[in-house]
Amino acid sequence: MAILELKELSKHFGHLVAVNELDLTVEDGEIRGLIGPNGSGKTTTFNLVSGFLTPTKGRVFFQGEEVTGLPAHVVARRGLVRTFQLTALFRELTALQNVIMACHLHTELGLFQQFLRGSGTRQREREMEEKALALLDSMGIADKKDEIAGDLPHGHQRALGIVSALATEPRMLLLDEPVGGMTPAEAKETMDRIKMVRDRGVTVLLVEHDMKTVMTTCEKITCMNFGNKIAEGTPQEISMHQDVIDAYLGGDTEAC
Ligand SMILES: Nc1ncnc2c1ncn2[C@@H]1O[C@H](COP(=O)(O)OP(=O)(O)OP(=O)(O)O)[C@@H](O)[C@H]1O
Ligand SMILES: [Mg+2]
Repeated sequence: MAILELKELSKHFGHLVAVNELDLTVEDGEIRGLIGPNGSGKTTTFNLVSGFLTPTKGRVFFQGEEVTGLPAHVVARRGLVRTFQLTALFRELTALQNVIMACHLHTELGLFQQFLRGSGTRQREREMEEKALALLDSMGIADKKDEIAGDLPHGHQRALGIVSALATEPRMLLLDEPVGGMTPAEAKETMDRIKMVRDRGVTVLLVEHDMKTVMTTCEKITCMNFGNKIAEGTPQEISMHQDVIDAYLGGDTEAC
């Protein structure tokens, strides 16, 4: 069953066509890779799907329901949550406080309303802290819980971004370059943990320049260039696809 369907999705910035009539179907439980040279439209696609940008044309369906043009917080509440290419954390808070904030943002009541309610708040706080700690542990950064997010190395900030997204209990995660700034060993460990997240029922759409990561993690890969889908298939099919090879050799070769 398809969990995400994009139909002729387009985004124009003035004369620039950043995404051009993109058709994309992601199956429930899949880890899908979305690759392409710099500027090919990957992040714009994420922004369109997650409600941070409104499409010029086309439609987005999540779990069979149309979400085109809905604001990001509404899309997130439905279970479709993204991380950012450059991490968006509460930089002056600790890692644990970041995750607790994300847990709060997900609950029915906002922080202020919970404060007003008073009774039961402490118990709730304890539960949230336990949940946040377990989530930090699931991405291997529980030992960083008391460190200030902005002071963490980039790799750990990315991992914290993923934990904050998981705190909202998504059905599907859109990960934009999740292993950027990580050592090869950290990248492998992070991807192993993302596979575990998927095994717990979260579908993943992954944008990543590191080809080793993409090839060893994704069951299927979609490749974009200049806003167009140029190829789709298994890692093996994609690595031998002439249009993909040309796209990378013609411009940015970072990913080769
Ligand atoms: N807000 C914007 N206004 C104008 N142009 C934009 C905007 N956002 C993106 N673009 C342009 O749209 C095109 C696609 O950009 P996008 O960020 O989606 O690429 P990308 O595939 O994520 O690249 P990278 O691999 O470098 O992250 C680029 O030419 C970019 O300059
Ligand atoms: Mg990008």
